[in-house]
Amino acid sequence: MYDTHYLWPHKDLLDVTQLTADDVMHLLDLAASFQEINRRPVKRVPTLQGKTVILFFAENSTRTKVSFEIAAKRLSADTHALGKAGSSLNKGESLLDTGLTLQAMHPDLIVIRHSSSGAAAFLADKLSCGIVNAGDGWHAHPTQALLDCYTLRHAWGGRFEGRTLLILGDIAHSRVARSNMHLLTMLGVKVRLCAPRTLLPAGVETWPVEVFGDLDRAVDGADAVMCLRLQLERQQAGLLPDLSEYSRRYCLTLPRLSRAKTGAQVLHPGPMNRGLEISDDVADMADSRVLDQVSAGVATRMAVLYLLAMQGGRS
Ligand code: CP
Repeated sequence: MYDTHYLWPHKDLLDVTQLTADDVMHLLDLAASFQEINRRPVKRVPTLQGKTVILFFAENSTRTKVSFEIAAKRLSADTHALGKAGSSLNKGESLLDTGLTLQAMHPDLIVIRHSSSGAAAFLADKLSCGIVNAGDGWHAHPTQALLDCYTLRHAWGGRFEGRTLLILGDIAHSRVARSNMHLLTMLGVKVRLCAPRTLLPAGVETWPVEVFGDLDRAVDGADAVMCLRLQLERQQAGLLPDLSEYSRRYCLTLPRLSRAKTGAQVLHPGPMNRGLEISDDVADMADSRVLDQVSAGVATRMAVLYLLAMQGGRS
């Protein structure tokens, strides 16, 4: 149940590491109440009427961009979308000058996706309006982790403590893996990682996780498996000698999934490389939560926009 007296202390959402477990539960409760609006015939409430949200996506996106836009519109905020193509970034304007220019139009929030780790934090430090990190380089994707948490909370009947989540695939390049690892371990989930050695990040041995190279061992007894997109655009460094070998060893298939707990959940943040990190039959099976994640993205982002636009930094 959403607590209307909870004081939300954050002006910006930059990384899940800034959140307490109470912040997360409050946000997920609020998202659950917004999910009800998404199922109505008329999906709009006046909650953020008069507020302005700029969607500044300097890197490609389908799910995050569209769901933030739908989330803002369902709460009646005014939205303006800016991409790298078609903006003055392509004429050489700096990130800071772009941010200052957008701020001069008095938005309440800027949602930013950028290929550089730290871009959202950099703007949050310079601008007075709220900043939402919609993914920065390899660093963080807090709203993805929150919507994954929303999805698992629902699928697991509300209990995180003692559950086991396997995160599988290209961990080294994944902001989703980093944000989920932080968020879910904070909530008591045991996180396992499985990847070839070359796709594990430097320093992984200091993370509070179990690391596996062998998928059959990693999946054994898991309550959920989150497959990650193999970031083919970042494989020029020769980290993988052979994609068919990668697929043979690390693709989540039905026989492999059968080693997990009965009814284990399958997640993927998208976009999927079908046949490479996840087989068609796993992606499309009844216990696949892939489209539930997308749906949860709208409700979770409605909660983020509401908390930052109406309460951000006012406690
Ligand atoms: N999961 C995710 O961030 O997807 P998009 O890149 O399509 O936004």
